[in-house]
Amino acid sequence: MNSQKHIPHRLYLTEDQMPRQWFNLRSAMKEQPDPLIHPGTLQPLGVADLAPIFCEELAKQELDGATAYVDIPEEVLEVYRMYRPSPIIRAYALEKALGTPAKIYYKFEGNNTSGSHKLNSAVAQAYYAKQQGLTGVTTETGAGQWGTALSEACSYFGLSCDVYMVKCSYEQKPFRKAVMGVFDAQVTPSPSNTTQAGRAILAEHPDTTGSLGCAISEAVEAAVGSGGKKRYVLGSVLNQVLLHQSIIGLESKLAMDQLGEYPDVVVGCAGGGSNLGGLIAPFMADKLAGRKDVRIVAVEPASCPSLTRGKYAYDFCDTGKVTPLARMYTLGSGFIPSPSHAGGLRYHGMSPILSKLYHDGYLEAVSYRQTEIFEAAVLFAKRETILPAPESAHAIKGAIDEALRCRESGEAKTILFGLTGTGYFDMTAYEAYLNGTMSDYVPTDADLQKGFDSLPDIPQNRGI
Ligand SMILES: Cc1ncc(COP(=O)(O)O)c(C=O)c1O
Repeated sequence: MNSQKHIPHRLYLTEDQMPRQWFNLRSAMKEQPDPLIHPGTLQPLGVADLAPIFCEELAKQELDGATAYVDIPEEVLEVYRMYRPSPIIRAYALEKALGTPAKIYYKFEGNNTSGSHKLNSAVAQAYYAKQQGLTGVTTETGAGQWGTALSEACSYFGLSCDVYMVKCSYEQKPFRKAVMGVFDAQVTPSPSNTTQAGRAILAEHPDTTGSLGCAISEAVEAAVGSGGKKRYVLGSVLNQVLLHQSIIGLESKLAMDQLGEYPDVVVGCAGGGSNLGGLIAPFMADKLAGRKDVRIVAVEPASCPSLTRGKYAYDFCDTGKVTPLARMYTLGSGFIPSPSHAGGLRYHGMSPILSKLYHDGYLEAVSYRQTEIFEAAVLFAKRETILPAPESAHAIKGAIDEALRCRESGEAKTILFGLTGTGYFDMTAYEAYLNGTMSDYVPTDADLQKGFDSLPDIPQNRGI
């Protein structure tokens, strides 16, 4: 590496340099994540089992751990070209403010209309639904970023889009709903009275402000009850979503190669794990193959600490228990997180791929309280002039702490983090932080135990 080389503030790959294949991180793993199993038979699921819920091509991607590279369909590339490649930015101003010798880079995914990385998978999933001849898709959304991205993608491909939006986000972010409306999506606050799952959750928790787990139950029920015209799509957690998001990591690695750089540490926020899984994919492959000794750090909210305080167990992906069981770090599908402003990180579980890597010691995890996150977000906005999404601010905080440790040790480490989105629809949260009314909620062990009590009582979970 040439330390004298001038590193520009922003590096954009050209359109021609954009990867034309996704990378399947599972193909590089020493051991595969445990398979999805049927909650009744406890047997691994095949494509035919998943076909009533997922689009067929996506079900195949979900179950394929072997294929390393998957061609990105031309129609998907055409949409990607409207907003990709996304830039790699050297955070010179933040480095200066921190007084750190570390070199901080971030991959910025907030440059498209939807405002986040979620569009990368939304476009792919809408495309496959259209290919299959479906009329539409159903989904959940937490913070609203996924729902917005999917609405855009569905509108582009001419599909209907039914979005179940976590109730507290629906109330905190009316403009998110309006953007989805522009793209003709039907948005329902969840839990709702429109599904059996929603009615059951409301009967048990009448005052609940909802969670991703509840919204997933409703969206799955709506797809399964559509007479085969619609399928359910999910914006995170699943293997297929991490596959689509690998475009983030592939572009990052190409750009860093051009700069003559390789990260010592890669940091990302972790909700269900899609941006982190995508960002780290090629770097983790290097680590697993012993080519590089890179540290990979997941950052999660202290209010919903699935990696740092969860259990590695088979669990439902939703609160209403209508999905298959996945082995993952989980707080229990019955865990209803407090209404934190980083709505996109309020999920009880974690991607099975990331969970396996964490379990096997290849991934580290840290958690932070909400006010610490906003402190980092505000510093970042002032220095780097981008107002980050609260979810993304978790990665910022993780990167800042790495950089401050470098200040202590004098090491000029190279840090790469994922800036997944912008925070312009999160102004209620910023306002609460700025006027001092934001609170920090960290669940007690007793709170967490209630969630763990909801874990399925099956042989696979004995002794966890
Ligand atoms: C901006 C942003 N970043 C991160 C996330 C977390 O999701 P994931 O862990 O799937 O990347 C979300 C989820 O809504 C989000 O909106």
